[in-house]
Amino acid sequence: MNRRTWIKLGGMGVTSFLLPTQSVDFLFSKKTIPTKLSAQAFGKDFLWGAACAAYQVEGAWNKDGKGPSIWDEFTHKKNKIHKGENGDVATEFYKNYKADIALLKEMNFGVFRFSISWSRIFPSGTGKINQKGVEFYHKVIDECINNDIEPWITLYHWDLPQALQQEGGWANRKIISWFNEYVAFCTKTFGSKVKNWMVMNEPAAFVGLGYMLGYHAPGIKNPFKFLKATHHVCIAMADGGRIIRQNVADANVGSTFSCSHIEPYTDDPILSYKDVAAAKRMDALLNRLYIEPSLGMGYPIDSLPALKRIERYYEPGDEERLKFNFDFIGLQNYFRVVARKSMFVPFLKAKQISAEERNVPMNEMKFEVYPEGIYKVIKQFSKYDIKNIIITENGVCYEDVLLGNRIHDSKRIEFFETYLEQVLKAKNEGAPVNGYFVWSLTDNFEWSEGYEPRFGLIHVDFRTQKRTIKDSGYWFKDFLRIE
Ligand code: BGC
Repeated sequence: MNRRTWIKLGGMGVTSFLLPTQSVDFLFSKKTIPTKLSAQAFGKDFLWGAACAAYQVEGAWNKDGKGPSIWDEFTHKKNKIHKGENGDVATEFYKNYKADIALLKEMNFGVFRFSISWSRIFPSGTGKINQKGVEFYHKVIDECINNDIEPWITLYHWDLPQALQQEGGWANRKIISWFNEYVAFCTKTFGSKVKNWMVMNEPAAFVGLGYMLGYHAPGIKNPFKFLKATHHVCIAMADGGRIIRQNVADANVGSTFSCSHIEPYTDDPILSYKDVAAAKRMDALLNRLYIEPSLGMGYPIDSLPALKRIERYYEPGDEERLKFNFDFIGLQNYFRVVARKSMFVPFLKAKQISAEERNVPMNEMKFEVYPEGIYKVIKQFSKYDIKNIIITENGVCYEDVLLGNRIHDSKRIEFFETYLEQVLKAKNEGAPVNGYFVWSLTDNFEWSEGYEPRFGLIHVDFRTQKRTIKDSGYWFKDFLRIE
């Protein structure tokens, strides 16, 4: 099995690509927008944004007093990242933020989602503040505001300060108070200008890949640490929500979750009931584990008994402390999961039948392209008592071909058209979905996959840092045009 098939909780079965043939003769034209799909159909208050994350774009990994993060440490080790790449330079957003925000505005987006690098603010994770880091985020926020772009901040998009990892990271319960200190500082410092906050990005991904599969930083493969980290993350997420609400007047508080529509593999009529149970376990692990505690439902132990051990890490009061009534939930969707029972996969006893094996359309990371999946996850999450759903990430990586100064990424345009149709369908059926953020604003550092997968609406030449808006970016510009 090559490393690409292990991407994204791969060992638990969630995978990822193909090198699709790009149609290079595609010429961007208004005609590509189906007549029934218009931004107006989503309503005038629907939010349209694009997203990025600190480690994937900022670069400047050791500049102006920034401390190292677990991703600096991990990418500097051998054989962890495709082609040995790292985020030392990335897209140099640290230098280029003004130009990137200008491009976001040019494409008519009204919202910019970015994350704060914890170790740029607290180089050692707690205690001493790095004023230069604070100034940088003030500048980014001000640039957004001066351009009428609403800043949406993620507090934790995976780049834990390395100093805290040395103390055990998310597996050490003390992290809850370290995280609270960081959240309190950021919200007190930026809260008068920023109202929209996401506590964490995709806990299922960073805890699963970081503590169970070891495929992401900090590279740990230990089911007990996975469970401990899960419990601490869930408490920190709820505590973080409370701190934001306390410090920021009129705050809009959320957190983001990776979610996939999960189906049993049903080719075998006699044994398919085993796959139904496997899909249920997979759903508990990938979709339900991190959101249900905040909703007061506890961990989904009934559906995935291997989670039972998490109760050992409870301290008095935790049950209440896990609950937090978020103003919105960020849903992030990239693929469908088709599950089969497998006794060879520890803990989960289930595996994914990859998109490649099923011979279905895929993106470059071998994630299945399955537009109905986003409709189905919105419907699944709408069954919870959730006030507001924002699609905080959705997007696709295809190999892009730069022709002169154009990138005719027709397959990416088709991706957005078909996914957005499904979002609209769910909305029209009453789902409380009120925003859609593209992943990603620019091409960037795609974690273990390095710089090869390109998710951006804006192409980045990583040698020169030249930005070029792709046809998909022009498609959005046209789609979001205010007449
Ligand atoms: C993450 C992003 C990542 C994207 C594409 C999401 O899970 O939040 O950081 O780049 O998926 O893999």
